[in-house]
Amino acid sequence: MRIKNLKEKLNLEDSTKLAEIDTLSDALLSGSFPITESEAEALLEKKKKRIKFRTIPQLIKTLEKFYNSDIERVPTLSDLTLFNKFIEDRKILGSEYWFCPEDNFYDTILRSVKPNDIIFDIGAGDLRLDLLLSRKVQKIYAVEINPEVIANALKVIGLSLPKNLIVIVGNAFEIPLPSDITLIIALMIHRCHDFTPEMKEKRILYAQQGSICEFRK
Ligand SMILES: C[S@@+](CC[C@H](N)C(=O)[O-])C[C@H]1O[C@@H](n2cnc3c(N)ncnc32)[C@H](O)[C@@H]1O
Repeated sequence: MRIKNLKEKLNLEDSTKLAEIDTLSDALLSGSFPITESEAEALLEKKKKRIKFRTIPQLIKTLEKFYNSDIERVPTLSDLTLFNKFIEDRKILGSEYWFCPEDNFYDTILRSVKPNDIIFDIGAGDLRLDLLLSRKVQKIYAVEINPEVIANALKVIGLSLPKNLIVIVGNAFEIPLPSDITLIIALMIHRCHDFTPEMKEKRILYAQQGSICEFRK
């Protein structure tokens, strides 16, 4: 079935139907596209049950479960080969590739932001902090170097991300800093010495020695 035909079947006014649109992206991600009409119907049914009426805290619980099962998984040789190639190609440290959530800092961050903040989150991980921030600030650019972390997160979250959450896969120190940002967040201890002069023009909240520090010029 073509995307156009499937979209025509859906009434975009209805939130349940909006959820169904994600099924298309699921199908694309899993490589099962193009799909037959009956396969599409089955996917729609499955998706409706999975994401209907989920709240952000519920999503974060699911992300936590996914993360916990992932760290228990023993890496295969192919995982390690891909990992080595990724870090070699980008000349980064292995430690810069791994995702490890920083939940204990979230309360401080959430208390420190303002409703009109536009945030550049360096090392966004699986977007759990950014989902919470999306309710409290104007806009977030969430930058994560590891595409696998984002791919896995999107499998849980779906593509119905909050509209003010812009996800960028790349090295936050190499992409141009968006001109509208008011605050940088960096929960990644090993890189705080690396803030660029342009970054240092902004307010920065960063993790250091187990607490959140603030940099202001
Ligand atoms: C300690 S985790 C923190 C994740 C997230 N902020 C949280 O609180 O759960 C650091 C994350 O930074 C990412 N990272 C490391 N270096 C990066 C860079 N130069 N640009 C973007 N992301 C980076 C890693 O892949 C990892 O997911």
